[in-house]
Amino acid sequence: MNAQRPAAVTPVELEDIQGILRFGYKHHKEACFLLLRIKDAGAARAWLAQAPVTSAVTADPPPQTVLQVAFTSEGLRAMGVAADIIDGFSSEFIEGMSRDADRVRRLGDVGPNDPGHWQWGAGQRVPHVLVLLYAVPGRLGEWRQAIEAQCDAGFEQLACLPVSDMQGVEPFGFVDGISQPEIDWARQRPARDQDQLAYTNLSCLGEFLLGYPNEYGLYTDRPLLATHRDSGGMLSRAEDNPDKADLGRNGSYLVMRQLRQDVQGFWQFLHQQAGGDPALRQRWAEAMVGRTLRGEPLVGGTSKVIAGDAAAPASELNDFTYGSDPQGIRCPLGAHIRRTNPRNADLPPGGPGIVSWLKRMLGFDAEALSQDLVASTRFHRLLRRGRDYGAQVSMAQALADTPIGSESGLYFICLNANIARQFEFVQSAWVIGTKFDGLRNESDPLLGNRQAGADGTPTDVFSMPRTDAPDERLCGLPQFVTVHGGAYFFLPGIRALRYLAASR
Ligand code: HEM
Repeated sequence: MNAQRPAAVTPVELEDIQGILRFGYKHHKEACFLLLRIKDAGAARAWLAQAPVTSAVTADPPPQTVLQVAFTSEGLRAMGVAADIIDGFSSEFIEGMSRDADRVRRLGDVGPNDPGHWQWGAGQRVPHVLVLLYAVPGRLGEWRQAIEAQCDAGFEQLACLPVSDMQGVEPFGFVDGISQPEIDWARQRPARDQDQLAYTNLSCLGEFLLGYPNEYGLYTDRPLLATHRDSGGMLSRAEDNPDKADLGRNGSYLVMRQLRQDVQGFWQFLHQQAGGDPALRQRWAEAMVGRTLRGEPLVGGTSKVIAGDAAAPASELNDFTYGSDPQGIRCPLGAHIRRTNPRNADLPPGGPGIVSWLKRMLGFDAEALSQDLVASTRFHRLLRRGRDYGAQVSMAQALADTPIGSESGLYFICLNANIARQFEFVQSAWVIGTKFDGLRNESDPLLGNRQAGADGTPTDVFSMPRTDAPDERLCGLPQFVTVHGGAYFFLPGIRALRYLAASR
């Protein structure tokens, strides 16, 4: 990471940023994702040079249709982008999600998740370009046809991934899309490198956009080019290195995974374990997520307002930390939302006094030590932009003996400036990791692959602590979510997109 600080803070260039970074396009209920491979680099470049990409500028009325574009590293190579430019991107992006056996293992992509079984994203089925199309109801068909016709000369279509509108509820039946980090678009948050003692939902721009300072007050590495490589002045100069043209500026990395959800398997397992008791079945499902089906946090709200949360539309569902529930009595430590965002500051939680603070700082607090692994949430935030696919399944269908016969799941999409520190850390240390927050033999109850550890230890347990009795435990959890595809993409700023289309 580059430690230089900018001479002056420049305003954010919304017109150069792809809109998905600022908007979830929730009102664009229709969407599909085109996975393309380049068949004619010249024709592909010609289209990319003028593709109608939607920016992050607020439009009134909002656009009826939206197009966003991202590339894999194979895609940049297939376009003929110079190797030394590609080398400036992060190693995770260059290597890709499925190529390196060690990464595949760390992400939990083993057993039924093995990339060898994927529908796309491995071997010859790695896409070059991802085109995300969104539209207001009734407009997608025509929009997709128009874009496919424009892409025909340059690309062949690996797949078109259709999205379903499940009205804000994911296939297992939980309200989704509630918690998001609040991005500091106004660049008012000072670049801090000192300890943060309270959880905040506000994130520095550089956590999600390249070319701006991140939560360490530093600039994430990205391709910076000698200015003669940008003689036409298409790119902006780097804030932290004004002698270089910044190809990363206003871009981000987009992680996409196709996650198939076994809705029948999920509810039937809980139904059997609960001896057919619907209330118990629902209580355990909600404990696994950490929220009720309607989205309320199990831990309950807090009277303290959390910075960066007041403006969020769902703030009443999001204004909480786990500080009042250190043992996981109300929300189990291993619940999905507690694992994926433990809502901690830089130090493990503890009392407010100076003595308690010193004990934690100096490492004399045993409980704090076990919690240390999950501290510093602010360096591991994800901006989620996923969409559901397939048919919505009712509880009666989920519990019926007849197989549903169709697939449903989540196209998990997240944006982050540092794939290793953000997506990969969350996925491997917190979701797949069995030693989370003092737990053993457990991984994420929704997402775990249930493969035994290297030493044969099980990973298929979910425990729910109680105050007055031993933990309630569910053992032998089946695998509920299977990976069917995935890739790492670079979502460029719009000027960088035009530069890439023109460069050789
Ligand atoms: C099929 C797979 C998945 C399902 C069914 C699922 C379901 C959910 C649900 C119901 C919520 C609560 C609603 C909300 O806060 O928006 C949630 C939150 C979240 N999920 Fe997932 N999720 C899945 C995959 C993932 C993956 C792969 C990751 C990251 C590696 C992830 C990260 C998160 C994060 C960061 C939150 C917000 C936590 C918070 O800030 O409180 N999820 N998920």
